[in-house]
Formats: sequence, C-alpha cells, structure tokens
Amino acid sequence: MPPNPLFLMTTRKKIIAGNWKMNKTSAEGVTLAQDVVAAVGKQSDVEVIVCPPFTAIEAVGKALEGSNVKLGAQNMHHEASGAFTGEVSAPMLRAIFATHVILGHSERRTYFGETDASVNKKLLAALKNQLKPIFCIGETLAEREAGSTLKVVQTQVEKGLEGVSKEQAPTVVVAYEPVWAIGTGKVATTEQAQEVHAFIRGLLVKLFGDAAAQKVRILYGGSMKPSNAPELLAQKDIDGGLIGGAALEARSFVELVTAAAAVK
Ligand code: 13P
Repeated sequence: MPPNPLFLMTTRKKIIAGNWKMNKTSAEGVTLAQDVVAAVGKQSDVEVIVCPPFTAIEAVGKALEGSNVKLGAQNMHHEASGAFTGEVSAPMLRAIFATHVILGHSERRTYFGETDASVNKKLLAALKNQLKPIFCIGETLAEREAGSTLKVVQTQVEKGLEGVSKEQAPTVVVAYEPVWAIGTGKVATTEQAQEVHAFIRGLLVKLFGDAAAQKVRILYGGSMKPSNAPELLAQKDIDGGLIGGAALEARSFVELVTAAAAVK
C-alpha cells in the first residue's frame, strides 16, 4: 500500500531529552551516558538527547559516538566569540558535535535574568550555526492562578521565535514546562498539558503555516517520570519530554524512552 501522505505529514518522531542541569561530574556523566547508550543507543524509534553541564559535555559526546543518542548543551551565548567571560558560543558547541541546545529554560529566566529578547537572540544564533534549539516556555503558578497561562505562553512564543523563517521552524523543538511543575513532583494533568500544547501548535500555524507547524516537536517538561509519561505522551500534541530529575539515572531515563517508543 502506498504511504498515506496525510499521515506522513503529521507523524512526528518523539523526543526524550535529558536536562542534567548542574549535576554530574565529567566521570559521572560518562558512566550515565554509557548506560544510556547500552540500553537505547541503537534504537531509532525515539530521538534521544542528553544535555550535560559544560564540563562534562565533551567527554559525554565521546561516550555517545557511534550511537543514536544525541548531545545537547543547556545554554549558550548569542555571539560567536569575544570578551564574554564565562560564556560559550554556538560554534564552540558545534565543534564538539553538539546537535541541540536548551534555550530559555525557566531557571535561566528566573536566576540569570534571561528575557524573551535575549532568548530570541540566542535562538537565532543557534539556528544560524545549525544547532537545534530546545526552546523552553511556560507559566509560573501565579500566572496560572491568575488565568493568564495562554497569554504568557503566547508572548514567549511570539517574542522568542521572532525572525525565525518558515524553513527553519521545523528544526526548532519547543518545550512547554509549567514552572510550578518543575522539580516539584506536581505534574500538569494531561488535559492541562494538552490544552497548552494544542494552543502552542495553533500559534505555530499562525506564524509559520500549517505544514511547518505540524513538523515542530512540542515537548512537555515538569516532573515527568515513567509512571506519568505514558498518559502524557499519548496526547495528540505532546511529542516527547524534557526530563530533569528522572534523567539523572539511566534506569528511569531509559524507561521514558521505552514509554515514548510504545506510543503509537
Ligand atoms: P524535572 O523533571 O526535575 O521536574 O525538571 C524538568 C525540567 O526543568 C527539564 O528541563
């Protein structure tokens, strides 16, 4: 039977990305990466990405060599080089074979003063250097309680993706991470998550047209773990997860990959 073009158009490979945050020395990171590679390094049903801290990233990259597990960073500066003490750039990340970079994580926004405008500069620089951004957005508890979740998310999407072309859009990965669900054990209900994911998809359609928007992977992040993942991952517009705590142990991270692979 010939493939159904409509089906092909809307099939998005799921992503399970581990954000290790400020955890793991280089040696610990290599051990974790080796365990992940041993378990899921050969499968290709799910795109698996690990994002170690900068000190571990090169060694982890070497441990991933020859596997299907991809390497991401957790942040970068928008300039290519220069007098920016403590920063790293997109070309530096490319040089150690990183393929992805997390941008605009709520912890960066809250503790390090990142704004929609600064995240946008980084995102454009990442795309220019063929790095795929994992672009994080999400509302705080106060914003949700005030009923402004969708408005907040809309502003973050519109400002963060300003200047991105229709052609570039499908390489952007969006991560919806309600701030109140991060590291708290409080996961969004599937309805809460799907509602926002569908809303984000609608915004992407307006910005980039339907064909490009249908290709964008929108990940959920915030206390995702093997017990709650299957239900979240089964939602129409939830294309994977950005995982914090559960990515720090191979066993739970691998279980998440297995859960994503099981969703049809
Ligand atoms: P937790 O999975 O620990 O809640 O963290 C989510 C996150 O912030 C991933 O970027």
